Amino acid sequence: MTFLPSNGGLHGYQFTFETYLDSSSRNIEADVSTLMNQMSWDSTYDSVSLSESISKYEEEFGRTYHSYRAGSYHYPNDPTETERLDDQYAIAKEVMEGRNYFAPFSRKNSPRKVLDIGTGTGTWAIDMGDEFPEAEIIGTDLSPVQPDLVPPNVRFFVEDSSEEWIYPPNYFNYIHTRYTLGCWSDMKSQIIQRAFDHLKPGGWLECQELNVLPVCDDGSMTDDYKLLQWAQDMDVASRAADRELIIGDDIKQWLEEVGFVDVQQMVLKLPVGGWAKEPRLKHLGMLWQRNLSGGLSGLSVGLLHRFGGKTVEQVEVSFLSH
Ligand SMILES: C[S@@+](CC[C@H](N)C(=O)[O-])C[C@H]1O[C@@H](n2cnc3c(N)ncnc32)[C@H](O)[C@@H]1O
Repeated sequence: MTFLPSNGGLHGYQFTFETYLDSSSRNIEADVSTLMNQMSWDSTYDSVSLSESISKYEEEFGRTYHSYRAGSYHYPNDPTETERLDDQYAIAKEVMEGRNYFAPFSRKNSPRKVLDIGTGTGTWAIDMGDEFPEAEIIGTDLSPVQPDLVPPNVRFFVEDSSEEWIYPPNYFNYIHTRYTLGCWSDMKSQIIQRAFDHLKPGGWLECQELNVLPVCDDGSMTDDYKLLQWAQDMDVASRAADRELIIGDDIKQWLEEVGFVDVQQMVLKLPVGGWAKEPRLKHLGMLWQRNLSGGLSGLSVGLLHRFGGKTVEQVEVSFLSH
């Protein structure tokens, strides 16, 4: 089955199709030459006001980390990381061919109440606020790293979403997560079950998550491939930290188990490096490689030092050989 968007938009969009961005079912052809070269806001929702302690970040390894519920999330929140998140946002949008979402919303069918969990710099929430002026968009995060100047229908709150939610049941039309791997000790009970409880009947939960373990179409990735080894080390450390990174393959089942219906999984491929022949994928692969290498140190040091048995020096030195 193929999804055919009518009028080029999401009007008529059904989740009863196989896939539209069909990159998962075909192998990406390599560019051999490259390879050779190598609202009506309710005041009760003011969950936490921005006290000084929340904005005074923890410092370690020359990086800063969130101070609200300190130690819960092992990746930095400083400008180096927030710039990486914004670049990552742009990559995701390109991978999704300009979309921010796959849920069946459109200008004519706007969501009314939207929650973006672990919003980071809030770029997705702001974009959604611009696209859907009638919607109220709430973005929540442990870190207040969102801009002050935002559309009038967008609000950000500092919140720990793994704790009891303050929103009423049956409240949202749309709940969204993106790149929240490594945030939860139990995504199913902490996020997916709560999303089910707090969505209105007919509402949508969309989880856009990343598979950290690199995979290979043609079997040419050897076990000693550095990126694979790094991802495996991160996987082990994230389990020890009780903040699992490898969640992508389980999400569909978790949604079904808590009671969601019409659950669809879409797998989109993203090359690492400029080896793909197709110009779009080549470009994306180069952007992704740059994003990953720029973030490698910050993404790794907290987890691999605290839970992976490595000294800070060992973590840094290991990148020299990558
Ligand atoms: C990798 S970032 C992704 C940010 C954003 N969704 C994006 O796509 O750029 C994950 C975010 O989740 C936030 N986070 C981690 N644990 C959280 C929690 N328990 N409650 C709320 N936010 C959390 C982090 O502070 C971080 O900003």
